Amino acid sequence: MTAVLFVCLGNICRSPSAHAVFRALVASEGLEDKISIDSAGTAAWHTGNMADDRARSVGRLRGYDMDDLRARQVTVLDFDAFDYIIAMDQNNLQDLQALAPASYAGHLALMLDFSGKDSGEVPDPYYGDITDYEHVFELLEPAATGLLAHIRDSHNL
Ligand code: 4NP
Repeated sequence: MTAVLFVCLGNICRSPSAHAVFRALVASEGLEDKISIDSAGTAAWHTGNMADDRARSVGRLRGYDMDDLRARQVTVLDFDAFDYIIAMDQNNLQDLQALAPASYAGHLALMLDFSGKDSGEVPDPYYGDITDYEHVFELLEPAATGLLAHIRDSHNL
């Protein structure tokens, strides 16, 4: 199994959205038994909560059901469990780099590094409106495609 963890700050907006987009793609390519997926937040504020209503409603309109997802905080044990730890923004990446054991041999990267056209950060939509949530999905969809292509290439899947 190749294990992929998506990480943002709260684990209620961007990373559950990335989780839902990526798992739909993995399922559409019949790779559920080869790639496992989870998401987490660098902060613990929303532990146990469902994804934000706005993320869930925008996601649902685009065909992604994320009602089963519950927020949790990333832990140092995640570096043992996940081959790819994918951050939404530079703050998430820096927090993960600070937590990572020196021995971590997996891949710590920004989500939009896998996007053909965009690079940089998936902006935090929490204090924004519904259009900011739509923008998150517009950024995540091509990046998820690029990430899956990268994993398929790297692992001969
Ligand atoms: P996320 O968005 O990191 O994409 O889940 C946020 C969710 C909650 C908060 C900030 C960002 N918050 O401040 O509670």
